[in-house]
Amino acid sequence: MMSFEEINLEMLPQHIAIIMDGNGRWAKQHGKMRVRGHEAGAEAVRKNVEEASKIGIKHLTLYAFSTENWSRPKTEVNTLMGLLVKSLRRELAQMISNNIKLSAIGSLSKLPENVQQELLEVIKKTTHNTGMHLTLAISYGAREEIKQAVVQISQKVKNNIIPIESIDETIINEHLYTQNLPDVDLLIRTSGEVRISNFLLWQIAYAELYFTEELWPEFNEQSLHRAILSYQKRERRFGKTSEQLT
Ligand code: FPP
Repeated sequence: MMSFEEINLEMLPQHIAIIMDGNGRWAKQHGKMRVRGHEAGAEAVRKNVEEASKIGIKHLTLYAFSTENWSRPKTEVNTLMGLLVKSLRRELAQMISNNIKLSAIGSLSKLPENVQQELLEVIKKTTHNTGMHLTLAISYGAREEIKQAVVQISQKVKNNIIPIESIDETIINEHLYTQNLPDVDLLIRTSGEVRISNFLLWQIAYAELYFTEELWPEFNEQSLHRAILSYQKRERRFGKTSEQLT
């Protein structure tokens, strides 16, 4: 039985984003093929989604596949796409019973047809759910996201839909893939790498960053609790002094 007593439920991060790294290294450590590492990673996704939703996290965004991941060997890309479809199918009932709403962000049109269809299906079936909002970043790159926002806004200025003077942070937010999401409060990266790797560059401006040596398949309910506890011990100042906050 997991206990929530240590976490302050009044001070939860509203939006947690996770860079799930280390599936390959986990497999190697256990003398298994990389595909087994990704399968164990999918199991960790299941556990963490369920736990985050139980704790009462409002938004969870997972980096499932980056634009750079397309350059991995074709067999590995296929494995990841297959796992995604399998997990979506397997977890749909669970998402519905846990009231979880699924979204996806990224260059989704680059995904194989069957992956797009499966995603759309689950998104459609969970669209009215009011519990945790789970967003999968797939074929996602933050620079690409910002670039397409600039293109869309420029088009609107060119076509006299908006005046150039109206461009502000709100307008930029509205043109990002994450338009319906609040800023990230807590960004977690597993496997000891201390990098952002082109993930949510705009949205993490004030996020607390949490890096752990644990490999993604090892990141369990307790790990999530530890990350949230660490977040709750920090003082978020948003550029102000400590005195101004009290
Ligand atoms: C990083 O491990 C992980 C990924 C590239 C993809 C994440 C995918 C999953 C967790 C599985 C399925 C996803 C869902 C949403 C069900 P790595 O391969 O980069 O590990 P390494 O750096 O140790 O090689």
